Amino acid sequence: ILIHLEDYRPSDYLIDTVDIDVRLHPRETRIISTLALRPNPAGRPHAPLVLDGDELALLGLTLDGSPLDSAAYSATPAALTVHEPPRRPFALRIETRIDPTANTKLMGLYRSSGVYCTQCEADGFRWITYFLDRPDVMSVYTTRIEAEEDEAPILLGNGNPKESGPAGPGRHYAVWHDPHPKPAYLFALVGGRLDRVSREVTTMDGRAVSIAVYVEPGKADRADYALEAIARSMRWDETAFGRAYDLDVFNVVAVSDFNMGAMENKGLNIFNDKYVLASPDTATDADYAAIERIIAHEYFHNWSGNRVTCRDWFQLCLKEGLTVFRDQEFSSDMRSRAVHRIGEVRTLRARQFPEDAGPLAHPVRPRAYAEINNFYTATVYEKGAEIVRMLRTLIGAAAFRAGMDRYFADNDGRAATVEDFLAAFATETGRDLSGFARWYERPGTPVVTIEGHHDASARTYRLRFRQRLPGAEDSPPLVIPIALGLVGGRGPIAAACERVVGGVFVLDRPADEIVFTDVDERPVPSLFREFSAPVRVEMVLSDTERLTLLAHDNDSFNRWQAAQSIAMRLIVQRTKADAPLAEDAGSDAQAFVEALSTFLDAEALSDPAFAALVLGLPSEGDVANEIGVDIDPDAIHRARRTLRRHIGRGLRKRLEALHAALADQAEAAFSSDAASAGRRALQNATLDLIKAADEERGTELAVAQFTDATNMTDRLAALSALATIPGEAREAALQAFASRYADEPLVLDKWFGIQALIPENDTIARIRELQDHPAFAMTNPNRVRALIGTFSTANPTQFARSDGAGFKLVADAIRTIDGTNPQLAARLLTAFGSWRMLEFERRSQATATLGEIAATPGLSRDVADILTRTLAQG
Ligand code: ARG
Ligand code: ZN
Repeated sequence: ILIHLEDYRPSDYLIDTVDIDVRLHPRETRIISTLALRPNPAGRPHAPLVLDGDELALLGLTLDGSPLDSAAYSATPAALTVHEPPRRPFALRIETRIDPTANTKLMGLYRSSGVYCTQCEADGFRWITYFLDRPDVMSVYTTRIEAEEDEAPILLGNGNPKESGPAGPGRHYAVWHDPHPKPAYLFALVGGRLDRVSREVTTMDGRAVSIAVYVEPGKADRADYALEAIARSMRWDETAFGRAYDLDVFNVVAVSDFNMGAMENKGLNIFNDKYVLASPDTATDADYAAIERIIAHEYFHNWSGNRVTCRDWFQLCLKEGLTVFRDQEFSSDMRSRAVHRIGEVRTLRARQFPEDAGPLAHPVRPRAYAEINNFYTATVYEKGAEIVRMLRTLIGAAAFRAGMDRYFADNDGRAATVEDFLAAFATETGRDLSGFARWYERPGTPVVTIEGHHDASARTYRLRFRQRLPGAEDSPPLVIPIALGLVGGRGPIAAACERVVGGVFVLDRPADEIVFTDVDERPVPSLFREFSAPVRVEMVLSDTERLTLLAHDNDSFNRWQAAQSIAMRLIVQRTKADAPLAEDAGSDAQAFVEALSTFLDAEALSDPAFAALVLGLPSEGDVANEIGVDIDPDAIHRARRTLRRHIGRGLRKRLEALHAALADQAEAAFSSDAASAGRRALQNATLDLIKAADEERGTELAVAQFTDATNMTDRLAALSALATIPGEAREAALQAFASRYADEPLVLDKWFGIQALIPENDTIARIRELQDHPAFAMTNPNRVRALIGTFSTANPTQFARSDGAGFKLVADAIRTIDGTNPQLAARLLTAFGSWRMLEFERRSQATATLGEIAATPGLSRDVADILTRTLAQG
């Protein structure tokens, strides 16, 4: 059954307060929930009261203190209905019992490594107690938690701590009160044995806040980075958006079984421990950056999500797209803005573009869903963030900030919609944003085609633009901000064009053109600077013109893009010709190598992080998305390897020198800051290219780096380099790594992932074996994502093998996991989303495998939903 956006109607009842009493027990947790209900003036009068449940058993029910006649209500596992509730405010007391140990779905209340925790978004609260489980029903919660003192010395809830004390022999309790009304999806509690790091901060309006991070016993020394990231996030939201924290405590708890990254429960964020725990010996630079970003993301939800929440789940992008935009801005301020932007765009293109081009495409605000948990997608999150970014580009930073202030002020304490969001900016700027709003409604990646013409005698440069939305050619045009400029052989050219305001031209018609005056030399246009819109750009530029951009543009993003575009063209060309492995010294590749060499000499050591990105070729997945049809992953793999080898050989001397210089520069004391991370990134990019040029030398360098590494980034990069070279060195390094980190599940995930990526036929057998490794568990989402998820999303030659063995491996895992954790199974299944791009034989194998999954009896709604859409005729 599909739920439709246009069917929204307000709830018939409201719940002003919730008093919830949870008596924790591993198998029989009792929940007594007292709801202060009243008819909603905006709802239907005299409607029955229907509370949501999921697999619940009702143990007791009273209305205003009296038991209800059995004819007055009905209870099923999925709903509790009171047929004729009073037409005035009334109190309902509901008792339920649940088994947290048996809860393997990781929704509702469950136990992870002996710690009780909750996950209620999107609709997990109904696994705990009967409730109006919808985000527009907002209530003030008081939570009492009771547990064995031994089993759960720490008891945490939403809001502020109120009281605590003994509760009978060996037991204790704690009461938490959250004064801010909130929907049930933001409810949380935690009970367990946990270590803690904490500190005090003072908000801009003078509130003393105690912030704390709770982790498994013995891991407190790995929680400091996350703790400091909270403090920095709080400060940043005050400066950048004027948003201060609003409770006396802010707690983060790390748990080891978690379906997603983390969750923004009011005052009590619960995290996948992968995004909390960090030490130089166990975390890579990428881990540090991810922790900082996700800590910030969940914290920023306190305003964009919690204070202002969503009316219904169709508005999910209202909080997620906006909060991703906010965390991106935070990370850019903490690190290098240009480098960070390139990373964001790489993720968007790798994950969102294919989603938008395949059978799982949907608008940023979906119009219908069967299972909302399947809509926590790259489109809602990442494309949602791009829409907010475009809005800022269109109206300017100052108006954007003023609009955000208005949005928060007008919607504080409300469950809002995308319309409310846009209205704040329309009011603030006096602009009509109804055309811009189409970005929320139209699925698919727009294509913008551009032609340039220089008239030497008139000294003008004309740019013609056309936009289209593939598959929806007659839909009205989108409003596309195009940040642009002109570049010549000596750098950016100052040319006048009245339709370019603040460096931005707005394309809001199907076709348009602009003319620059006083242009003497034939320029190279630098278009969509900083990736100003989530579109595909079609413009014929020569390699020479692109190299002009790489050398002279002042927009870092487009400099990187220029190098990427050349590399992409070279790989695509070789893929189509299926060039042999023999050395390929085509002259076009040679010019590219020479340009890279000039670039490295001039800039490698002044901005190593950027240089590392320029040296990184498009991934095999990027190339597949570019080609789009009849994909043969083996041909792409060979073509990309050929180019890497060619670049490696051409730059050999410089790469060796850089690798040595950077290894020398490494500080004795590890620092996770962006500058140090950038040096490591470049050192490891050079290692990778040296290996591509000369496996023997690469092995030698990698073995030395693996042995001498003083941090996880360098150790893991060396291991990754070794992993693609069959032989003894590889197996020895894998062995050494596994024994060194035998007791570190999160580090072993990296080890699983590296092996899942090996582009060799034996990888499938290796993975089947690793599934029996004592550290692996099909019930733990991090383990599954590390081994199976990495394989299916990042090892295209083996996942999409023409004998179907890769598909079968993943399908087997999906069927096993669906029995315990449908959300995780459904997420894995999305790897099949691009199956239509493949060449005939692989496509047939994919259809056969999907058919086998479909034939499995008892599939979850989560998996069935993804499967139906994946197989639907496009
Ligand atoms: N709101 C969380 C975040 O993005 C994601 C939680 C999604 N959980 C789920 N079961 N769908 O920060
Ligand atoms: Zn979020």
